[in-house]
Amino acid sequence: MNFDLKPISKHPLHRIHSGLLVVSVPEAGLAKSHPLSATLAKAVASKVFEGKPGQTLALWEPAGLATSQVLLLGVGKATSAHWRSAALKLAGWIKDKSVTQVDWCLDPKSLTDWVAVLRTLSDGLYTYTHTKPSAKAHVAHVSLLVSDVAKVKGMVKSVQASLAGIALAREWGNRPPNHATPAHLGEAAKALGKLKNISCEVLNPSQIAKLNMGAFLAVAQASAQPAAFIVLHYKGASSSVAPTVLVGKGITFDTGGISLKPGAGMDEMKFDMCGAASVLGTFRALADLQPRINVVGLIPACENMPGGKAVKPGDVVTSASGQTIEILNTDAEGRLILSDALWYAKRFKPRAVIDIATLTGACVIALGHVRSGLYANDEALAKQLLKAGEEWDDLCWRMPLDDAYAEGLKSNFADMANVADRAAGSVTAAKFLQRFAPEAPWAHLDIAGTAWKSGAAKGATGRPVSVLLGYLLNQVHKPAARR
Ligand code: BES
Ligand code: MN
Ligand code: ZN
Repeated sequence: MNFDLKPISKHPLHRIHSGLLVVSVPEAGLAKSHPLSATLAKAVASKVFEGKPGQTLALWEPAGLATSQVLLLGVGKATSAHWRSAALKLAGWIKDKSVTQVDWCLDPKSLTDWVAVLRTLSDGLYTYTHTKPSAKAHVAHVSLLVSDVAKVKGMVKSVQASLAGIALAREWGNRPPNHATPAHLGEAAKALGKLKNISCEVLNPSQIAKLNMGAFLAVAQASAQPAAFIVLHYKGASSSVAPTVLVGKGITFDTGGISLKPGAGMDEMKFDMCGAASVLGTFRALADLQPRINVVGLIPACENMPGGKAVKPGDVVTSASGQTIEILNTDAEGRLILSDALWYAKRFKPRAVIDIATLTGACVIALGHVRSGLYANDEALAKQLLKAGEEWDDLCWRMPLDDAYAEGLKSNFADMANVADRAAGSVTAAKFLQRFAPEAPWAHLDIAGTAWKSGAAKGATGRPVSVLLGYLLNQVHKPAARR
């Protein structure tokens, strides 16, 4: 979806020519002076249309207007939820009727309302085509007619950038595992590296080995696809400003390794790189918005495969931090690759480090598909991420990090084991990561339940690009010196 903002003063309704002119109608009705107020009053009187959220009434050549096709679209009480219902209905209408140019009069009041409108519309119009060209993408241009462009321009621009980021994250999440290998992710990152103020480096297995990333390479060692360690830099501020580091889990396919997963639904483990995809998406949005901050993106990318070269339960590996790990379950691989990447983050003397990972099935059991699990060793960072999630409708829920949860990670043969027992599996995974996290404020987002949808609507969601971007944009006015 492409869209632009237009002032209604320069584009009065009665003069607009459009494929489809959409008029938002709240339950309270339209102003008396509105060219459609009389028509609306009749429709309301005959109970054909009342402005309920998502309700529609199509008009053909209404008197006094220049355009032929007009849609009254109910927005109820104009809450975020009501805007979402309206936008969802409109997306369906646009696709159904194959409309390519839409002019929509609307007046969402807050950032959250704009997010609700534009993200719902953009999600509704997205079609995956990379390996299914027969599913033709529907290209629609949507002009947003507002009364005060200056007032909403900034908000709309950041939402628009977030949508480009979400689209990129969804795209890479959705691509099949043979079309989204570590090398492919590296190429996607390099393409971002061509954008303004972004640079990218992709380390190969021998470079990764030189960094002593024994935990990461143990996961990668049975795969025919070479591992890649992607390092992205966004430099929007002077180099004296400490960066935020984003670390995304990039398991391009998780079979479980020797601790093999059951066959049913294993295809969904192509989504095990959605953390990585959310980092790529966030960089895409940063390129558009050019905020005055510095951000580093780290993506350890590899497959988790069984085979003759595979790491075995009981193997002990040495992580880049020097700590040894007894790999009791090869399916707990995300924490292994992240441990080395988190250690690597320290060299940037970051103001904060946030890792994003489809880490545990246990998080899906705990929080379902509504909120991402949020762990943080710092109150302020936790608050800021929760707030960004609320503002940008990409919800998180704070989870505990009590040391008592780490008891089960003890090992007789290494500094720690990579799994504890089944209880509180998402928390023990976070406790494992914490051992490698920097002293700087650190947060971990377990997005196992929120990064993709199963069933008929199977596909990546693009979460939590909005949380990350919202958080980063709120940092612009809080410069912090390098530690
Ligand atoms: N990628 C999975 C987590 C996952 C599973 C996400 C299902 C979404 C749905 C991760 O690598 C994994 O396999 N975790 C194990 C950990 C266990 C062995 C301690 C899990 O959750 O079962
Ligand atoms: Mn796994
Ligand atoms: Zn995994």
